[in-house]
Amino acid sequence: MLSRQLAQKLRAYETPFYLYDMALLRQTLESVVYESKRYGYHLHYAIKANYDDRLLAVIREYGLGIDCASGNELRKAIEAGFDPQQIVYAGVGKRDKELRYAISQKILAINAESIEELYLIDQLSAEAGCKTDVALRINPDIDPKTNHCIDTGQADSKFGISYEEILEQAEALKALPNINIVGIHLHIGSQIRELHVFENMCNKVNVIVENLESLGFSFRFVDVGGGLGVNYDVPENEPIPNFASLFSIIHNHLKVGDREVHFEFGRAIVAECGELITSVLFNKTTATGRRLVIVDASMTELIRPALYGSYHNIENITSEETLTSKYTIVGTACESTDVFQENVSLKRTKRGDLISLKSAGAYGMSMASRYNLHDLPGAVYSDEIE
Ligand SMILES: Cc1ncc(COP(=O)(O)O)c(C=O)c1O
Repeated sequence: MLSRQLAQKLRAYETPFYLYDMALLRQTLESVVYESKRYGYHLHYAIKANYDDRLLAVIREYGLGIDCASGNELRKAIEAGFDPQQIVYAGVGKRDKELRYAISQKILAINAESIEELYLIDQLSAEAGCKTDVALRINPDIDPKTNHCIDTGQADSKFGISYEEILEQAEALKALPNINIVGIHLHIGSQIRELHVFENMCNKVNVIVENLESLGFSFRFVDVGGGLGVNYDVPENEPIPNFASLFSIIHNHLKVGDREVHFEFGRAIVAECGELITSVLFNKTTATGRRLVIVDASMTELIRPALYGSYHNIENITSEETLTSKYTIVGTACESTDVFQENVSLKRTKRGDLISLKSAGAYGMSMASRYNLHDLPGAVYSDEIE
């Protein structure tokens, strides 16, 4: 782990900050690009996972496009130099001004998530005097076997359009004059570790595509979203996610025909290359005997544990102690849920020690807030450390 190797040098930086292992990011991108090329798959990076400029520049170097979820994410991607024809834009609640902007940028597809949105894109495209490429984000009703806070493809979810509704509206949708329905999109959830779930997804998509094409739709691409999980428990065992296995499942189960297949990975690209480095401020013991370590980061820098009960592997990277103790690691925010982890076994920990919360490159910095008027955390890149 990078922070352990660099521990003493990291003392030069003001905590808390995100530490990015740029070599690992490159190795991850090499792996996903190499494995996807075997099948000619198209890759997009889900910019919501982390929109750090330096990470984006490296991701662009490897030829990935972008998946975005807001007008500002789209603007960020375009300003970072990504080709609009490699950008897709999903989101259940796109504002009119965001849609107008997306229409003007001629992106690969707006992934529409309701029938009303399709009508609105048609109307706004007419006003702009153009035709817009869209994909239908379908809700496939699949249990992704992940934390229920991050599943997105079950029947009752707010994401996507129900297949039944598309069937009911098929004729009207085909007749909309200012949109081209060029693709099918779905994203069933995040942090999926049971890869057989993707097999179920392929089986459903095959039926959906076949039925819709028999009704006269014609899809140039199927975008199967992201979702590939990472190893939060022991990141050192699996620093690069298993892209090869996922692609092989898709290859064996998705009836592709001459359609393109697109992926939108977020977590799998950037989670493992980032760590949140924080300093120990104080130790104290509660009246009930719970030993607290209070660190200078909080849910404002990394909200995942407070928001979803997510686990991050935590290590004291500077302690020279041989003995360990059990601690509860808490942050500085004025919220009782601002707890990074209960009952963590750490080397005996004292004020000033540096603590790493690992696998924090995805949905860490991009979800940071200024609650309690905390400063946003900085970023330190491994290739800039002397
Ligand atoms: C539509 C869409 N695509 C891709 C992603 C990226 O997912 P992951 O980070 O699990 O790969 C998300 C995440 O929420 C999403 O909503």
